[in-house]
Amino acid sequence: MCGIVGYTGPHNAITPLIEGLRRLEYRGYDSAGIALGTPNKLFIEKRAGKLNNLEQSLSSIPTARSGIGHTRWATHGGPTDSNAHPHVDNDGKLAVIHNGIIENYAELKAVLESKGHTFSSDTDTESVAHLLSDLRKKHGGDLSAAMREAVKSLRGSFTLVAIHADTPDVIVGVRRNSPLVVGLGKNENFMASDVAAFIEHTKRAIELGQDQVVTLTPTTVSITDLDGKTVTPKEYEITWDASAAQKGGFAHFMLKEIFEQPKAVADTLIARLSDNKQIVLDEIALTAAEIKSLEKIVVIACGTAYHAGMIAKYAIEKWAKISVEVEIASEYRYRDPIINKNTLVIAISQSGETMDTLMALRHAKAAGARILAICNTNSSTIPRESDAVIYTHAGPEIAVASTKALLTQIVAVYLIGLHLAQVRSQLTDDQVADLYNEMLELPGKIEQILETVEPLRALTRKFADANTILFLGRNIGYPVALEGALKLKELAYIHAEGFAGGELKHGPIALIDSVSATPVIAILPAGHEHSLDEKMASNIQEVKARGARVIVIAEEGANVVGAEYVIRIPVTNPLFQPILATVPLQVFAYEIAVARGSDVDQPRNLAKSVTVE
Ligand code: G6P
Repeated sequence: MCGIVGYTGPHNAITPLIEGLRRLEYRGYDSAGIALGTPNKLFIEKRAGKLNNLEQSLSSIPTARSGIGHTRWATHGGPTDSNAHPHVDNDGKLAVIHNGIIENYAELKAVLESKGHTFSSDTDTESVAHLLSDLRKKHGGDLSAAMREAVKSLRGSFTLVAIHADTPDVIVGVRRNSPLVVGLGKNENFMASDVAAFIEHTKRAIELGQDQVVTLTPTTVSITDLDGKTVTPKEYEITWDASAAQKGGFAHFMLKEIFEQPKAVADTLIARLSDNKQIVLDEIALTAAEIKSLEKIVVIACGTAYHAGMIAKYAIEKWAKISVEVEIASEYRYRDPIINKNTLVIAISQSGETMDTLMALRHAKAAGARILAICNTNSSTIPRESDAVIYTHAGPEIAVASTKALLTQIVAVYLIGLHLAQVRSQLTDDQVADLYNEMLELPGKIEQILETVEPLRALTRKFADANTILFLGRNIGYPVALEGALKLKELAYIHAEGFAGGELKHGPIALIDSVSATPVIAILPAGHEHSLDEKMASNIQEVKARGARVIVIAEEGANVVGAEYVIRIPVTNPLFQPILATVPLQVFAYEIAVARGSDVDQPRNLAKSVTVE
């Protein structure tokens, strides 16, 4: 949460800063601000509200060759002009921006106030501006040395970037448990929370390690640890295309990302079966002996990624016959997990920066588990701290509500399930090859759903006034129901809940209200295993009898009775159904949100990358 960008180079800094902030707005958007490095004086402007508010207030901007910018998701202090970043020292010459939480800010503030500093915001960040100011003076005007010393006395998670009017072309940054990447340009350098901020200017990037301080000028990059020891930078090439981070003619990033799903799924699946029918998944970095001795898998994740974890349980247990537990990451680390060296922990995260998932990962690692990450963001913290990583190939996901990243996470867990099943001899090579080949048909099937999406959009608008919408699923359709409800809550701010069909009679059925004809969306399980489709058919009758309006998602050819509307999806293996059934639910939530006038790409109170606990 919170987007950070810094620039130093030959051009007028305002342009790369505002462009960068626009790309990072997904990280938070309740206020925004910039500090431009003009000699002897900083130009500072900050505003509550979205980036547009800041832009509109920028009338007479001085020419500056460096600057820092911030887009905020409030933690300490409400979203007001004064709490917006940057925060400055009492001389008005040093400015700092921050992503994360300074846990000991109250202690720092008390000490600084006793030394005569006066504060003008309710934020934790402002204490860092005052602290840096004192330390910079102590270090004879060396901002990098001040940053190194300041960080030693900070607790919490943070990325901090600072600039001082006396050295306007120098930008200093540091990170601990929050992201910061450096972009290497020609006679210009950048730093940002995410490469998306500078991808238009350079594809050369450096990943910054924990507690490393980076100092940028237009022509130099120096990185040290907190003791000032030089660190050799690890440079890498960004493979994302700048155009991937643009809307490309779609009304919203979310709609564009929904339509990118066939490609995202295909890219994640590509070249995963060898000629001799073996799943190719070397990144898992486990020997055959280690795979055979696995006793348990624990999946940790948050939000939508947690639903991918639930789907993993059905697929991996069925194919590989290993017990899978799925845990909400924020709960996991407050237990004493039963883990040993034969436990594999899978951390799923689109951003690779979610603090709850990272903390759960560390907890599991400390308890002796081996960690495998499934992640969409190269070189982010979660893969870096894991023993192994499988990257999904969704490309940059900008809309706050996750769509294509989820589908690729599900593909990744299927690949893991098939690989483990093959190595543990639970499936034959032919069975594995058949399942893989069936997966290869999924992109085309998603395409088919998207080609016929217009009637679904029209149907959806009929439900835009609903106060409550319920989602029912069974078996692997249950996490799909949870995801459908989550999307609707996030985007349309409608009360929505997902239930396992069997649980209906144990409470949720009381929510069906015949007066308002509560809409219920039921996902009809594929195939006839355990007569699940018949059991769901009974659930449909039960809610209908109590006045619900029922929409059913069912595969082509399935017999559906009692539904007011049926949304058809192509036939596939029952375990692959989530990849298809999720798509109409994404469109449903999107369309209702649009009809209700919600901000689809930036829903209220949310942020895409949640880097606080
Ligand atoms: C936030 C986002 C969700 C996302 C969750 C996990 O809450 O709003 O869309 O599913 O974080 O994010 P991750 O990056 O770890 O997948």
